[in-house]
Amino acid sequence: MIYLKTAEEIEIMKGACDLVSRTLGEVARWVAPGVTTLKLDTIAREFILDNGGKPSCLGYQGFPGTLCVEVNETVVHGFPSAYVLQEGDIVGLDCVVELNGYHGDSCYTFAVGEISEATARLLKVTKESLYKGIEAAKAGKRIGDISNAVQTFCERQGYSVVREMCGHGIGKSMHEDPEVPNYGRCGIGPLLKPGMVIAIEPMINLGSKNIVIGGDGWQCRTKDRKPSAHYEHTIAIHENGPEILTTFRYVEEALGITEA
Ligand code: MF3
Ligand code: CO
Repeated sequence: MIYLKTAEEIEIMKGACDLVSRTLGEVARWVAPGVTTLKLDTIAREFILDNGGKPSCLGYQGFPGTLCVEVNETVVHGFPSAYVLQEGDIVGLDCVVELNGYHGDSCYTFAVGEISEATARLLKVTKESLYKGIEAAKAGKRIGDISNAVQTFCERQGYSVVREMCGHGIGKSMHEDPEVPNYGRCGIGPLLKPGMVIAIEPMINLGSKNIVIGGDGWQCRTKDRKPSAHYEHTIAIHENGPEILTTFRYVEEALGITEA
């Protein structure tokens, strides 16, 4: 069941989307060698609560964090921990916030200090693939057009697309229909309609596409232990094109990155 949102609901969702974006911007200022991922999680949780929001992931089916923490080979759903970030690591921070009854979802993968050229390129391509997916998210097209845009862009550059995890509809629930895979064929899947709000979130591996889910049922890593990158925006589909409701502006300001 796909819930189409009214223009008023989309306006309300901009509040949650702005708060999750600002939360990642706040956390961005702390990402550095020597910092534990638990510290990042605490900063995120306090920032969300101070701003009247609720951390959606915390306690969701028993998930122990405000942030999903994705260090190096961790693909998704890593737990905040006493792990101390090291120079050369990458860390994806995936966050969902509830505000005024609606959720906003975003993820950004950070470089910790200086990282290898190969890993930097993986981050760049994965982020670009998110925008390729968004460009394809036009009313009248289908979910498969988004999926195909992400997949072809990443595979052409030698990377592989995680199959088991998808983007999703979002609204009053953190996960709604439809699923938004990062691989697939053009012209298949649900029709994109004005009022749909979806989270697009490519999870892209440097090595093979295979993943392993940990014994805790959550933490997911690449099988070959090579790095994986993850970026996510919540977007709304309008008659005249997609609108990105979350933003990396706060993160990239904090990081001193000026180009969009
Ligand atoms: N941001 C994750 C997603 O994109 C949220 C799920 S994390 C969970 O689907 F811990 F809450 F499950
Ligand atoms: Co998501």
